[in-house]
Amino acid sequence: MIEIETQKSETVLGRLVVVGLGLIGGSFAKGVRESGLCREVVGVDLDPQSRKLAVELGVVDRCEEDLAAACVGADVIQLAVPILAMEKVLARLAGMDLGQAVLTDVGSAKGNVVRTARAVMPERLGRFVPGHPIAGSEQSGVEASNAGLFRRHKVILTPLAETDAEALALVDRLWRALDADVEHMQVERHDEVLAATSHLPHLLAFGLVDSLAKRNENLDIFRYAAGGFRDFTRIAGSDPVMWHDIFLANREAVLRILDTFRSDLDALRDAVDAGDGHQLLGVFTRARVAREHFSKILARRAYVDAMNSNDLIFLAQPGGRLSGRIRVPGDKSISHRSIMLGSLAEGTTEVEGFLEGEDALATLQAFRDMGVVIEGPHHGRVTIHGVGLNGLKPPPGPIYLGNSGTSMRLLSGLLAAQAFDTVLTGDASLSKRPMNRVANPLREMGAVIETAEQGRPPVTIRGGHKLKALTYTLPMASAQVKSCLLLAGLYAEGKTTVTEPAPTRDHTERMLRGFGYEVSVEGPTASLVSGGKLKATHIEVPADISSAAFFLVAASIAEGSELLLEHVGINPTRTGVIDILRLMGGDITLENQREVGGEPVADLRVRGARLKGIEIPEHLVPLAIDEFPVLFVAAACAEGRTVLRGAEELRVKESDRIQVMADGLQALGVKCEPTADGIIIDGGEIGGGEVHGHGDHRIAMAFSVASLRATAPIRIHDCANVATSFPNFLALCAEVGIRVAEEGKS
Ligand code: S3P
Repeated sequence: MIEIETQKSETVLGRLVVVGLGLIGGSFAKGVRESGLCREVVGVDLDPQSRKLAVELGVVDRCEEDLAAACVGADVIQLAVPILAMEKVLARLAGMDLGQAVLTDVGSAKGNVVRTARAVMPERLGRFVPGHPIAGSEQSGVEASNAGLFRRHKVILTPLAETDAEALALVDRLWRALDADVEHMQVERHDEVLAATSHLPHLLAFGLVDSLAKRNENLDIFRYAAGGFRDFTRIAGSDPVMWHDIFLANREAVLRILDTFRSDLDALRDAVDAGDGHQLLGVFTRARVAREHFSKILARRAYVDAMNSNDLIFLAQPGGRLSGRIRVPGDKSISHRSIMLGSLAEGTTEVEGFLEGEDALATLQAFRDMGVVIEGPHHGRVTIHGVGLNGLKPPPGPIYLGNSGTSMRLLSGLLAAQAFDTVLTGDASLSKRPMNRVANPLREMGAVIETAEQGRPPVTIRGGHKLKALTYTLPMASAQVKSCLLLAGLYAEGKTTVTEPAPTRDHTERMLRGFGYEVSVEGPTASLVSGGKLKATHIEVPADISSAAFFLVAASIAEGSELLLEHVGINPTRTGVIDILRLMGGDITLENQREVGGEPVADLRVRGARLKGIEIPEHLVPLAIDEFPVLFVAAACAEGRTVLRGAEELRVKESDRIQVMADGLQALGVKCEPTADGIIIDGGEIGGGEVHGHGDHRIAMAFSVASLRATAPIRIHDCANVATSFPNFLALCAEVGIRVAEEGKS
């Protein structure tokens, strides 16, 4: 009978029997014994020396040679014998009266153990909790027993359909007492995962060393074998008997992964044989990125919302003045498009100045997942080996796009025309954003697209549907919708024509031309005809005016500032922020104006100025759509009232930017009132306090800038998504004189 009682906060178990006093069994016994959870720990081992040592070293309270004698009165029996011996021990236990004892094991394969248990003790399955601690050490034997061996290591329990909840909870409790991270998994899944991540690598390491050792010149080979060989074959030093057992025990799963690997290896051999450097580069670049992003891959998605899980707080100190010259990172919109068009082009496209922020990286990863070989990014340089308009391959799973609305909307257009299905997913913020604005017109073109309720992500796109061209008038000023339809138009039969209600950013149109694809633009209407090709090109991404905007406002509101922002893109569809600040009295001059790869750029000089409130002209709204959070900060510092209208789109950005900014400004004592399509802000003093970034990069950065005129520190919660568009924001702030840092770091 299991006796669980609570003494102070401790649960006490009567008797634990550990069968097999090697490293794992000994460490489990010692750990449970030291935890005080159990009154008595009994060891069983065939080797008299091990039994003696186990008692001397305090691993167990006492030892038995005979299994039946040890198991009398046991509450939990832990089987820690070699994996092939499990079958024999289970058969012996089946013949004993074990009462209600819970049976568990530590075997590295689970299928064979479970099969045996089902065969020999079908009536005891309710009390059986198969398990596998993923821990070990180079040492072995009871003398290496270490109560801390499982600390922060994974222990996988694979309960059966028949396993009692109470038995599972008990075994779970014992492992947690040893500080292990316990997970539950199905038996088959466990064996597949372990075959791939542990068993196959061991087989390869043993195999490689043996293969080289057999050769005549082996001495030379080993003498010169440096890092690579040594690193790769470290695990060939593991216990041969144990591994021989594991391969026999987990034969089916090992064979499946080995066959897959063998065909991948054959493909690599063919590539080497054919001198196919492109294929090799593809495998190597994907592997390298995969290795860097193991944690993301473990979460089974391409890019992870690093942020929403933990609250990254920015602490901004009041006051300051800006000086110096800086270059903010590359333009986000242009970076996305460079990857998309470069991938669909024929030939190799070189990109410089690429934004290494999470949003653009999500797009990059999406194309890698669809088989495009992309080198970099390395210091903003990316090399894309285009596959042509029809060269994308089905991705291995859903494409995760993090926080990036641009990725999801633009990709929807071009994926609607592919032969394969895709599913697009995103983080919590993206999962709330409207996608029907692209799904509906794409459906009119013949696309088959499903969304979650109210047109929210995930977006499922069915491949294999021929698109026909569409003439469409956008219901809202949106460059994302326009671009999505133009990208779909590359594949749609006929001429696709999009008319916008107000000018929006035209990077897609410009870049398509840069790739040699004809786009005609007449006033508010852009159109293109399918059937052409994109030819690889060179792209220089200018600095992002949307990132520069934070410093334009910062230097404007901080008296005595003078700052030069280098190489900023000043495409006329993006310069609303300069126009609005100038209308407010801002002192901004454009120097060294030039054109780079089809986009106009300039150095922007900005000086501190006395700003005044204005009615923001509505025609400037789409031209400054991403800059309003920080423009609201400018308005809060201006003399008089600023009124914004016609900006309801702000409510469906990464956050509801009207509400979220109004809440934050009010928390800092600024008088303001949100309206359905804008906001009214009365300039005045800004106090200190706590505000929330709501996972929206531009909100977090806007409040960082507000600190320059605040009377006390501002604590900004939920700032991690700053990395989506401006990974070195804090470093550049420090360089020019904005005193904001991650809380707890100087
Ligand atoms: C973008 C267009 C804008 C903008 C977004 C980037 C683009 O969105 O807010 O940050 O790259 O096309 P809308 O087109 O939805 O206004």
